[in-house]
Amino acid sequence: MKQDMIVIIDLGSEENSAVAREIRAMGVYSEIYPHDITAKSLADMPNVKGIVLNCGPNNIVDGKEISVSDSVLSCGIPTTTIKDGSAHDTLKSFIFDTCKCEANWNMNNFIDDQVELLRKQIGDKKVLLALSGGVDSSVVAALLIRAIGKQLVCVHVNHGLLRKGEPEQVVKVFREELGATLIYSDSVDRFLDKLAGVADPEKKRKIIGAEFIRVFEEEARKLDGIDFLAQGTIYPDIVESGTKTNKIVKSHHNVGGLPDDLKFELVEPLKYLFKDEVRACGKALGLPDDMVYRQPFPGPGLGVRCLGAITRDRLEAVRESDAILREEFARAGLQGKVWQYFTLIPEVKSVGVKDNARSFEWPVIIRAVNTVDAMTATIEHIDWALLDKITSRIIKEVKGVNRVCYDLTPKPTGTIEWE
Ligand code: XMP
Repeated sequence: MKQDMIVIIDLGSEENSAVAREIRAMGVYSEIYPHDITAKSLADMPNVKGIVLNCGPNNIVDGKEISVSDSVLSCGIPTTTIKDGSAHDTLKSFIFDTCKCEANWNMNNFIDDQVELLRKQIGDKKVLLALSGGVDSSVVAALLIRAIGKQLVCVHVNHGLLRKGEPEQVVKVFREELGATLIYSDSVDRFLDKLAGVADPEKKRKIIGAEFIRVFEEEARKLDGIDFLAQGTIYPDIVESGTKTNKIVKSHHNVGGLPDDLKFELVEPLKYLFKDEVRACGKALGLPDDMVYRQPFPGPGLGVRCLGAITRDRLEAVRESDAILREEFARAGLQGKVWQYFTLIPEVKSVGVKDNARSFEWPVIIRAVNTVDAMTATIEHIDWALLDKITSRIIKEVKGVNRVCYDLTPKPTGTIEWE
């Protein structure tokens, strides 16, 4: 193993992630563990050079004040105690002077270490991955291709609710450029038939989620000898799912719900990376920028942007207008600067004039927001000239649309998506 590691033990701090990131920013790899970690687990981890006991206000669990066991304290690895984060200089001196760590945490070393660990874990067995083309699953795929090549089997389910060009890009990058074994499931009709006439947003979400599991399960059953299921779990998924001392922020949702007779062992090679580190890992593995730096995209995809009951013509109009918006934002240098931007189409039509005749068509609504954690959001102040350009392209190029509106509502009161 190439990297030194500092273990952070959570003694009720609210700053565990911040401390881990601070240590990684100094060039030293760090992971967070609960207070009841054993000396044996620590001894089994490679290259642990120091332990940080991170104390804080959430130090009562099940009515008792928590601490680490004496065997951890006496295991021979340097230990110092900090409270809810600590002065940068104290931490730095502990890591480099006391623990004698080398600043050797970088993406190339991380990838080398993961490749070694994955080969050890998987051996000559096969791994299955649901490859949506989102950042996390794409980086997992690229890392597993580096580690085990053809032993990885990717399944890409095209449910018809992806953005323009996305399914084609997944096939091009993974099958053609990286040589992956990729099963492409064209399930567009199946999803759209199931969604026909369903207007309630939560019902739409449930249908999309359940149908996805069904298609994935059907593809998995056709394959022989798969022992592992890879998932794009990342560190915030784990931290936000709650630690022993912190409450759940949100449940960690990933591919779940597979039937009991399809039990796989999990492979989660990104589970210690923060989002920016996942992107850096993807870049180091050679994935294209527009895959690695793409904006967040909801699991139900364009399904929650074609408001109410989805119709194929409105869905195509959402896809086309979204592609124009993204193209113009990229041209204006806004890609990667605005957190999330997209179009949506409500289930109403309005009167307009097109080619000297009355038109009765849909409006396209543009939404562009900035946020840190998606809990609150402000709107992007788009330049008028850019809005003009996007509007004239949409009404000229997108079939069935005669009007464009810009949503000025922050969150709260409006959520980022309309459904
Ligand atoms: P809202 O609309 O709640 O969205 O302000 C906050 C963030 O979450 C995304 N979002 C979803 N992501 N499945 C997802 O994976 C969903 O059902 C879903 N709904 C909203 C949304 O795009 C925004 O980034």
